[in-house]
Amino acid sequence: MIGRLNHVAIAVKDLASASRLYRDTLGAKVSAPLDQPDHGVTVVFVELPNTKIELLHPLGEGSPIAKFLERNADGGMHHVCYEVEDILAARDKLKADGARVLGDGNPKIGAHGKPVLFLHPKDFSGTLIELEQV
Ligand code: CO
Repeated sequence: MIGRLNHVAIAVKDLASASRLYRDTLGAKVSAPLDQPDHGVTVVFVELPNTKIELLHPLGEGSPIAKFLERNADGGMHHVCYEVEDILAARDKLKADGARVLGDGNPKIGAHGKPVLFLHPKDFSGTLIELEQV
């Protein structure tokens, strides 16, 4: 059911220093910061040959990333995103198998303008999973 790894999202305390780390130390192609107020994050995209890394920083009040950074002082991996062809079919199969879908269970338009869902980390080896329909 799941296809390509679309991205790995990493929550960071300091977006500028994390950008420098990926650009200068690791030698990756790094975008300018992009505010996404609907999602409560500022994102820097790191382009790798086979996938992307998204550096997430809290934006505005009540950002989901702020809570994560309270619990993880150094930042850390926030979620992985797998591509699916049919997000509703994927959701229905996962629910039938007992997995919990976060929120109201309906896909929302994600950071890339495509429908996404998040799956409960406790059902997936402690990892928050995002599914994105491509
Ligand atoms: Co994501």
